[in-house]
Amino acid sequence: MKLLVRPQKTPLRGTISVPGDKSISHRAIMLAALADGTSLIRNWLPAGDTIATLEAFRALGVPILVDEKSPQAWDLQIEGRGLYGLQPPPAALDCRNAGTCMRLLAGILAGQSFASVLDGSPQLRQRPMRRITDPLSQMGAIIRAIDGKAPLTIEPAALRAVDFEMRVASAQVKSALLLAGLYADGPTSVCQPGPARDHTERMLQAMGVKITTLGNWITIQPPDVPLRPLDLTVPGDISSAAFPLVAAAIVPHSEVTITNVGYNQTRTGLLDALQAMGAEIEVTDERVTGGETAVSLIIRFSELHPTSVSGDTVVRGIDEFPIWAVAATQAAGASRVSDAAELRVKEVDRIGVLAGELRKLGATIDEQPDGFTVHGPARLYSAEVDSHDDHRLAMSLAVAGLVTHGPTLVHDARCAADSFPGFVTTMQQLGASMAWHD
Ligand code: S3P
Repeated sequence: MKLLVRPQKTPLRGTISVPGDKSISHRAIMLAALADGTSLIRNWLPAGDTIATLEAFRALGVPILVDEKSPQAWDLQIEGRGLYGLQPPPAALDCRNAGTCMRLLAGILAGQSFASVLDGSPQLRQRPMRRITDPLSQMGAIIRAIDGKAPLTIEPAALRAVDFEMRVASAQVKSALLLAGLYADGPTSVCQPGPARDHTERMLQAMGVKITTLGNWITIQPPDVPLRPLDLTVPGDISSAAFPLVAAAIVPHSEVTITNVGYNQTRTGLLDALQAMGAEIEVTDERVTGGETAVSLIIRFSELHPTSVSGDTVVRGIDEFPIWAVAATQAAGASRVSDAAELRVKEVDRIGVLAGELRKLGATIDEQPDGFTVHGPARLYSAEVDSHDDHRLAMSLAVAGLVTHGPTLVHDARCAADSFPGFVTTMQQLGASMAWHD
């Protein structure tokens, strides 16, 4: 399915909300499944990636009732089976395109008394899994991969507690180890080199698990009491809000409000980077929901200046670099991201593929092994571009199309629904000139 985007002639205006946070939605199912009792999860994200997790847990014997409030928000009632109540799945579990589903599930399944297989799309089968299989094996897990990649075959094992220093600041790796730590024979500690998202820690704590953070070290004690069920409303995903935010920042005279956006400080790197570029962002209505902060964000168009982003800001906005690059095309000068080699092992190589597609629109981008430099301001022109089946690339290219001098056709854009069902409708609510095209 193609998305046709025309140059935006009028400002983007209005108030919208975005679907629930993807990271929290995956974790809510996984942890609710391990609780004793019924969990209620509202505003759960029904996206391609998270539905893979939902179906995997049904296959593991967890009853999940779904109330489809809208195509963007489901309410779930999950009958937790307790830490030791999952059932052997009848077939390989299909994680589709979702790295979070595969890596976190591997942590949980490593400590079960039954064997299982984790598989996924051809794209997911290309992504590195040694980052979880190596440390889990140190804990005593028995996992077979194919040259460090999925499918992963996991055999029953008794897990040992370990202290593990991660080389990359990955929340998926950290979470896989903490989840395996629920089944270990003592406290498991993980050291992260940067502030990777901490939703797993927050949720486990809310369920009564003893988990402590000291500097970069996080330690989990295997629980001696059942996990309490969850009762939470998932805040909107700041990684989805990123697209209307940047659209409003680059389309002249726009003003957009996005309500109920998750505002966890391990996720706000893009806001810092945009503010450093001179973007006008107001944060209001701050409140706490289910251990996570949510806010309304108001963004107004303003002239953008170039900036450099590195270190912790990269970790705190790792999924937002495709859309940040689009903002950078509109800033007068060189904007650079470094310390971001992780971008090369996302759904696609988000340095090489992004640079290739933005160049088709007339952007000037240099690639570095650990990042890229965008030379703006670019006069973008009409072109046909391709998402390479990467949801964040599809939506970034669509937003770029709003500031090109002619129509942009984004091929294979349906994958936007892997994380943001209703992306096009939401953008249309703001007056964006984009529509599906057969
Ligand atoms: C995620 C962690 C990040 C992020 C991904 C979601 C998570 O991946 O890119 O979209 O929910 O834990 P890494 O752990 O590989 O950095």
